[in-house]
Amino acid sequence: MTKQKIRKLSGTLRIIGDKSISHRSLILSSICVGKSEITNLLESEDVFNTVNILKDLGIQIKKKNNKWIVYGNGTNSFIQPKKVLECGNSGTTARLMMGAVSTNPIYCTFVGDKSLSNRPMRRVTDHLEKIGCKVNLTNNEHLPLTIKGSEINLPLVHKISKPSAQIKSAIILSALNTQGRTTIIEPKQTRDHTELLLKYLKVKFENKKTKNNGRRLIFNGPYEIKSKNIYVPGDPSSAAFILVGALITPKSKIKLFDVSLNKTRISYLSILKKMGGKIKIEKTKIRSGEQLGTITASTSSLRGITISANLSPYLIDEYPILSIAASRAKGVTHMKGLDELRHKESNRIKSIVGMLKSFGIKAKTKNNDIKIYGSSTKEVNCKKAVKVYSDHRIALSASILGIISNNSVKLDDKGKSMATSYPSFKNDLKKLLID
Ligand code: S3P
Repeated sequence: MTKQKIRKLSGTLRIIGDKSISHRSLILSSICVGKSEITNLLESEDVFNTVNILKDLGIQIKKKNNKWIVYGNGTNSFIQPKKVLECGNSGTTARLMMGAVSTNPIYCTFVGDKSLSNRPMRRVTDHLEKIGCKVNLTNNEHLPLTIKGSEINLPLVHKISKPSAQIKSAIILSALNTQGRTTIIEPKQTRDHTELLLKYLKVKFENKKTKNNGRRLIFNGPYEIKSKNIYVPGDPSSAAFILVGALITPKSKIKLFDVSLNKTRISYLSILKKMGGKIKIEKTKIRSGEQLGTITASTSSLRGITISANLSPYLIDEYPILSIAASRAKGVTHMKGLDELRHKESNRIKSIVGMLKSFGIKAKTKNNDIKIYGSSTKEVNCKKAVKVYSDHRIALSASILGIISNNSVKLDDKGKSMATSYPSFKNDLKKLLID
C-alpha cells in the first residue's frame, strides 16, 4: 500500500438525491394519472432497477433536460411484463414493487442479486397474500418469487410486527388500489416518505399517532391521484458519510445544502452531537412535502457513548458510518439491539466488525450488540484490501476512515458497490479534499 498525505475536508456540497424518496417518487408517479417531472432523482443502480421494472410494467419513463418524466396511468394500470423483474441489490425496489403489483391482475416474477436473494420477503408477502394475491417464494422466504395479482382485493387491518418502512409502504401501495377501508398499524413510526408524498399529492387518508410512538394509517381506496411534479431532496444517509469524514479529519469544515431533514432520518445527527460532534443544522424550505436544510460539520473530539436499542429503527442505515465515528472516539461505544442489521445488504453486524478489524480496530459482538473500542490518537493503518462484503454502506464507511489512514486504502470490491446508492462519492470527496 502506498503512503498517503492526510488532507483536510473543506468546502460546500449539494448532496445527491435521496434513495428512498427517489424510489417512491417514481412508483407513485407511475400510479398517478398524468405526467410528472421529477427533479434531482438519485441516478444510482438501486433506483435504475425501479425505473426498469416500471418500464417492464408498461410505464413510459424518460429523461429530458436533467428531469425524469413519468407518464402515470392510474392505480390499476400495470400490464403483464414480458420478462422477469430484476431488482438487483435493491430491497426497496423488491418490497415496494411487490406491493404495487399485488392488486393488478398480472403475473410477475421478482429476481435479485445474491445478497437480495438471501433477504427475508415473507414479512411483506404474508400481508399481500391476505389481501388476495398468490405468492410463491423460494425456500418459503426468498427471491426468486412469483406474485399473481388478484382483481378482488380485501380491505383489511394489517398489524405490522416489526418497524419497517418497506413493509408499510408495500401495504400502502396495495391499499391505494383496494376497494374499501385498509388499516395499517405500525409498532413504531418508521420513515414516512410515502405518507408525505401522498399528502403532497392530495391523497386523503388518516394518519394518527398510537401509543409508544406507533402509527395507524387508514386508507379508503381505490384512489385516482392526479400527477404533480416532484423534487427529491438530498439524501441524509449519504450526507452522513461526508459529515463523519469532516468530524474525524483534522482541520476540516464542510457545509451540505438541501439535505432532507425528515425527522425519521436524522437521529444519527443527535447521536453524533452526543458524541461531541460539532454539527449545526439549519432548516431552509419545504419541497414536495419534505423539510430541507443545511448541515455544517467540523473537526471534533469525539467520545464513546451507549446507543439504546429503541433507536435502532431510526439509525438502521447509519450504523456502519457511526461505527467509524466510534472508532475515532475516546472510550467505548456500545450499540444495542441491532438484530435487523442481519437482514440488510450484508449481515451488517458481521461486516461492521470485519471492516473495523481490517483497520486493526478492536470491536466485539455479543448477541445483537456491538462494542467498539475507539481511540482519537491511534494511527490508522490498513495493510490489506478492506473486506466490504459487497455492501455499499460498508464500502463508503471504509473509504471515510481511509481519509485519515497512513496508507491509501483499497477496497476488496474496488468501490464497485458504491454505485448502489452513491455513485458520485469519489468525485464529491475529491472536490472537498484539499492540502
Ligand atoms: C428503506 C427502509 C429501510 C432502510 C432501507 C430503505 C425504505 O429498510 O434500511 O435502506 O426506503 O423504505 P426497512 O424498511 O427494512 O427498515
